[in-house]
Amino acid sequence: MLIALLGTPLLLLGVWLLLKRLNRTYFILSLTRRVRTEDGSPLESKVAVMPGTTRFGNNLDVLNCTPSSLFNFLRDSAAKAQGRNFLWYFLFAPMYNVIRAEEAEEIFQSTKLITKNVIYELLRPFLGEGLLISTDQKWHSRRKALTPAFHFNVLQSFLAIFKEECNKLIKVLDKKVDGELDLNQVIPQFTLNNICETALGVKLDDMSEGNQYRRAIHAIEEVLIQRVCNPLMFYNWYFFLIGDYRKQVQNLRIVHDFSSRIIERKRQQFKRKQLGVVDDFGKKQRYAMLDTLLAAEADGQIDHQGICDEVNTFMFEGYDTTSTCLIFTLLMLSLHKDVQERCLEEVSALPEDTDSISVFQFNELVFLECVIKESLRMFPSVPFIGRTCVEECVVNGLILPKDTQISIHIYDIMRDPRHFPNPNAFQPERFLPENTVDRHPFAFVPFSAGQRNCIGQKFAILEIKVLLAAVLRNFRILPVTRLEDLTFENGIVMRTQQNVKVKLVRR
Ligand code: HEM
Repeated sequence: MLIALLGTPLLLLGVWLLLKRLNRTYFILSLTRRVRTEDGSPLESKVAVMPGTTRFGNNLDVLNCTPSSLFNFLRDSAAKAQGRNFLWYFLFAPMYNVIRAEEAEEIFQSTKLITKNVIYELLRPFLGEGLLISTDQKWHSRRKALTPAFHFNVLQSFLAIFKEECNKLIKVLDKKVDGELDLNQVIPQFTLNNICETALGVKLDDMSEGNQYRRAIHAIEEVLIQRVCNPLMFYNWYFFLIGDYRKQVQNLRIVHDFSSRIIERKRQQFKRKQLGVVDDFGKKQRYAMLDTLLAAEADGQIDHQGICDEVNTFMFEGYDTTSTCLIFTLLMLSLHKDVQERCLEEVSALPEDTDSISVFQFNELVFLECVIKESLRMFPSVPFIGRTCVEECVVNGLILPKDTQISIHIYDIMRDPRHFPNPNAFQPERFLPENTVDRHPFAFVPFSAGQRNCIGQKFAILEIKVLLAAVLRNFRILPVTRLEDLTFENGIVMRTQQNVKVKLVRR
């Protein structure tokens, strides 16, 4: 009896001491999932193994982080790793964090590593099996079907829409000259209108509808970060009981209703077109991505849910990323008068009549493109991307067990001083053709690279150039917000806690 009474606490103590000891080397956290080196050399010779802040591996390192503290935590981790890629161990799998172009290359070029990592799973209720998240056969066939919708000829037909939306925005800006202009209030509306009218072929008339959509997207991302920062929140049942589940459902309803209305409007137009009815829309019919999807639906290649997923994906990927880039580029132009003047010189050479400016002429704005690239380098709209090893794989001399998560930190790769000396300085000249010859091909990757690169990158650059050229021709951009006023936030898209402001003065 006595032995039984004493035995149980002793046994528990023994187990606890054993767990503590084993935890030191993470064995219980990854019993069958240790990363090894291919050549048998010590792991530390190939990658920095980051000690956790508690005994539970790295599981609790980001507990209760906010989007801004997560941003800082990631930068601190990269600094602690002293420029080396680093490993974290989580409850069920390791995470291989890549902050160097040299090792990112093998991942980008792999035809096997195309499945997204666990963080994207949290986006699934929002984006379903859309192009960003889907994998294998589904992704291959959709990517093949949608690529022609972003062909150069199609972009040419989108140019008129970009210019039309740009003229509308310039009128709005005209009313705000000489005062503080809040870029977060005006730019996202422009990019949302553009993506809806070009890729989806539907004009947004009701501005308030768009505003509600944007607020809901922001809230969805906030919940996502909340879940990323608490390992238990990855479990739906825990999220349902403890997390902001109801808020998430409400916001998902707003964004899904919004995209469903767009699809419905387009479906009606598509049916009328099939019946041969030509209306106002028919006259200026353009080859929109949504047309491709509706035609595929008519052929039985995609169902209604598939169309919804793609529309949600393109709206999300197409508007927020581009507006973030525009906001940062305008900010940097406001802070660098000399760069602004050089851009103005370049855009002044364009024809007076905006309607006649072609895609080729926009392509020739070489210095303006350098400015956009340098802004993307310093403030990438998408700061990190992820992949999963669906089976054990060898990457960069490391044997990564099945389910290893890979995070490629685009932000850190593009601030690597080996490829971009003085990386915190805004120097658009870095991207002049003569200065890029010897640069590592994967050192500048704001649109990712390889098979799963951004399908909309040419679309985005053209759209950004059209607006910047118009703003530069009409206004001088003066600084209001300074970089040191900003708190950066890590989400799927990079943001700042504060809105970015500039002042416009008529030229
Ligand atoms: C400055 C603007 C943009 C930036 C910086 C950007 C960046 C990226 C990045 C880094 C990825 C890879 C994501 C990952 O692997 O997780 C991506 C994928 C994607 N982007 Fe963009 N993007 C931009 C604009 C656009 C636009 C305008 C569209 C649509 C018109 C678009 C549609 C997509 C889609 C559908 C994917 C998924 C592609 C696939 O996996 O096959 N993006 N983008």
